[in-house]
Amino acid sequence: MAKRIGILTSGGDCPGLNAAIRGVARASYQLFSDVQIVGVMDGFGGFIDLEYREMERHEFSGILTLGGTILRTSRQRDKMIRQNSGKYLDPFRMMAKNYEKMALDCIVVIGGNGTHTAAGMLYDQGLNVISLPKTIDNDVWGTDVTFGFQSAVDIATDVIDKVHSTAFSHSRVMVVELMGNEAGWLALSAGIAGGADVILIPEIPYDINTVADVINDRYESGKHYSIIAIAEGARSIHDDPEQNLKGQHYSVGYKLADELRKVIDIDTRVVVPGHYQRGGAPCPFDRVLATQMGVYAAELIKRGEFGTTVAVKDGKITHNLIKDVAGKTKTVPRNAPLLDVGRKVGVSYGEPKARKAE
Ligand code: F6P
Repeated sequence: MAKRIGILTSGGDCPGLNAAIRGVARASYQLFSDVQIVGVMDGFGGFIDLEYREMERHEFSGILTLGGTILRTSRQRDKMIRQNSGKYLDPFRMMAKNYEKMALDCIVVIGGNGTHTAAGMLYDQGLNVISLPKTIDNDVWGTDVTFGFQSAVDIATDVIDKVHSTAFSHSRVMVVELMGNEAGWLALSAGIAGGADVILIPEIPYDINTVADVINDRYESGKHYSIIAIAEGARSIHDDPEQNLKGQHYSVGYKLADELRKVIDIDTRVVVPGHYQRGGAPCPFDRVLATQMGVYAAELIKRGEFGTTVAVKDGKITHNLIKDVAGKTKTVPRNAPLLDVGRKVGVSYGEPKARKAE
């Protein structure tokens, strides 16, 4: 009987998903004498609705460099399902039943934080689960890096680079709003790579007066333009930290520009690249990382080590237990070496300064 390996991609897409799918599939064809890869479509949506395809070998060719995911993806489909009768269906029990119906021997779940929590619950239902960490946010616990992140850093850096020349020409402040709702890794890395003067991240609430001081000081020293990289989850010291503004068509970039206009008189513009940061081909680093992780997942299947999630630690591919990763977020710690590097090249994180009483 052929070994039946299910694969699904869940949560926001990112470059490298197809490279990972290909890695799992190709390594499995080598490791097992008889294997059938089963593509579960639309993330947990397809797992719940029993939408799947028995895939053929040729479908894993030509996808290494392809952005997005050939299996498509969805968000939040693992939440309780309310029926017209008012009753709730447990999606995890439905997925466990469908796992049997698809006659799977295991399921490889590729996703970010929410996906890992769901993967842990599926493992608790008795399914043989292995997960892979992807996200442009780089905020999955227990791994130094996720695939998709480096590609997004490249794109975001390119945006900052391009904005630089127009900021200079017009003597403007340019605010570049980057993705990252809970973790500021992307804004921090792209900000440093692009030479941003101010980087604002969710982990460090900013004081608009500090930001204004940086811009004024630069102006007075003859630098008539400034670049601010702000993560979409950044908050000022005056914002309510509990307020979740996600999904409200809310832009922290425009909010910051409005705050700035009240305290400085320099022309300011806002750029929001949004989902552009998640699109297109994976960069070579992510192609390699996603392939390594996919191959390692196939090896975990071979060894029967389920309930595990692939990770990178100190440059080596390894794994953690899903239960140790689920429900956690890897945010930027206050003592992150990269924060310090930024400070040493003059980056401001907008931290409040001790001010003299008037
Ligand atoms: O998790 C990846 C991510 O791109 C976040 O940076 C961002 O907050 C979110 O997804 C956007 O989600 P959606 O694609 O559902 O708008």
